[in-house]
Amino acid sequence: MGNPVWYITTPIYYPSDNLHVGHAYTTVAADALARYHRLKGEPVWFVTGTDEHGQKIERRAREAGVTPKAFVDPIVRYIQDPLWKRLHIQYDDFIRTTEPRHAAVVQQIFERLRAQGDIYKGVYEGWYCVPDETFWTENKLVDGKCPDCGRPVERVRQESYFFKLSKYQDRLRQFIVDHPDFVQPASRQHEMLNFIDAGLEDLSVSRTGLTWGIPVPGDPEHVIYVWFDALSNYLTAAGYLQDEAKFQRIWPANVHVVGKEIVRFHAVIWPIMLMALDLPLPQHVFGHGWLLIGESKMGKSLGNAVDPIQLLDRYGVDPVRYYLLREVPFGADGSYTEDALVLRTNVDLANDLGNLLSRTTAMINRFWQGEIPPLVADEDDGVIAREVATVYQEVQAAMERLAISDALVSIGRLVRTANKYIEDQKPWDLAKDPAQKVRLGNVLYGLAEALRVLSVLLTPFLVETPGRIRYQLGLDSPVQEYREAIFGGLPAGIKIRRGEPLFPRIESKAATPQEPDAGDDRSIGLEDFQKLDLRVGTVRTAEVVEGADRLLKLTVFDGTRERTIVSGIRAHYDPESLIGQQVVLVANLKPVKIRGILSEGMLLAGSAGGELALVAPIRRLPEGARVK
Ligand code: MSP
Repeated sequence: MGNPVWYITTPIYYPSDNLHVGHAYTTVAADALARYHRLKGEPVWFVTGTDEHGQKIERRAREAGVTPKAFVDPIVRYIQDPLWKRLHIQYDDFIRTTEPRHAAVVQQIFERLRAQGDIYKGVYEGWYCVPDETFWTENKLVDGKCPDCGRPVERVRQESYFFKLSKYQDRLRQFIVDHPDFVQPASRQHEMLNFIDAGLEDLSVSRTGLTWGIPVPGDPEHVIYVWFDALSNYLTAAGYLQDEAKFQRIWPANVHVVGKEIVRFHAVIWPIMLMALDLPLPQHVFGHGWLLIGESKMGKSLGNAVDPIQLLDRYGVDPVRYYLLREVPFGADGSYTEDALVLRTNVDLANDLGNLLSRTTAMINRFWQGEIPPLVADEDDGVIAREVATVYQEVQAAMERLAISDALVSIGRLVRTANKYIEDQKPWDLAKDPAQKVRLGNVLYGLAEALRVLSVLLTPFLVETPGRIRYQLGLDSPVQEYREAIFGGLPAGIKIRRGEPLFPRIESKAATPQEPDAGDDRSIGLEDFQKLDLRVGTVRTAEVVEGADRLLKLTVFDGTRERTIVSGIRAHYDPESLIGQQVVLVANLKPVKIRGILSEGMLLAGSAGGELALVAPIRRLPEGARVK
């Protein structure tokens, strides 16, 4: 198949007055993907928009005493500016489902499916969740409430059009099996297969008694079901039925980035609509996890929504974007805390990256008259050049598999390698010895070059920082292409411009270690401590626990046997990265069942401000070694 354009979408948003950082999460991630592909020189069509019809909006408008259109208009304007504007979301099209171009497409799709017998008239009798705009049969309800969001549902009995999902069930199943990367991550693919195997019922695709929607052609008592309307936006925005040449270039979509709660709509209803229309299916539906506040989804209650504009005011755009993209492995759930955002900014951005820039420019000023030294390639130790080459590949590989946070982990390694290079090479000592002049020049060149490469690699993720790094290095041109991230591109002789620190350290409680409270005597005797059986073990296997985004199931060899341990560290570690690592386990903890898995022990980990790291011996030890 394949089309010349990278077509990337976010869901279209409900215009609500409760837009929070969780919403921004989807858009920022999709924007980073879009920017990455543009940087690779690939044409991109990145679309977002608003999902404006349906009962929920109609009711909210009635409560507010205005027409639905008057209700949504200011919210849509707010979403475009300031919300997406201040996050620097570079979309190519913003589609509103209330636009005439969209209504025309939705009606033609409906008409065609009805004409070919895939949509038929019947009576819907069941339940409806208004906040989620979802139909539910009696047997799916949990305690009489919506199984997705837990809110009350309403009884509906009315004439309705139905879409024959059941007819396409087997074809869809086969498609998912044949295209294992269609639904990502893999855990969501399994969920979808289970859902399909439970049997697909024909879907009610129209409502009566509701005016705020697109009318069914020729039957204006009915308006088209809001999800049928909303999903079609991806076709409207690609020019379907309106601009054939554009449509040929853009369709099928490469990736729909969506939150996990709406994967079902995108990986079941949507592909079946496309099959019925005889259109190729998107390449990937990526279901990312949720930002949580404590245990619950941000936004679930009005009280826990974090306002993105306030965060942008307080911290600036790059710390917010960086935190969203880096903190949680893309696909998993993660807890949101402001402390963790502060810590990420202070550690990764202010400390690691910011210090690298200020140390490098300070040393070039002191030891090389403020000019980029020449590189004497035959005498270069290759430390930075090799790391640059590795990271260049890793970032590419990560982005191709939509592992955005992994790309930032690799980039972070280049920063750390460069900082360590300063410690190892001690340019201040080299500067004292004229015989080391070439080496000193190479070291300084390598550091400046690492920073230039970082300005390229960071371009998809951060919007102000790359330009600021380049300015200080004396470069005036913006980053143009990903290929610029190859070692050796920095011209010698240009004058650097030392400037402000990239990120001022944010002072907050999270940034400073807590002093132990002298009044709190919780000391224990040695005999208490000795009750703990702590041992070194090695992780043999690691996998995500199905249906539990925060958990990993590990097998750990403790010197005698392999134990199964379930650990809530998914947000901090990818399973693959743990295999072969040594850990410390509490071996005499009573086994407990977690999600039906018997967990025999616990791993030690340190945590502060949302950051968590497993504890391990700093040199390898035989498994079973006692920790005391
Ligand atoms: N209107 C539908 C989508 C229709 S697409 C054809 C919708 N809109 S939404 O405004 O409720 O959600 C928009 C996006 O924000 C979704 O991807 C959703 O998963 C995401 N998020 C909303 N709250 C979230 C978190 N707390 N965490 C991460 N993303 C979440 O659904």
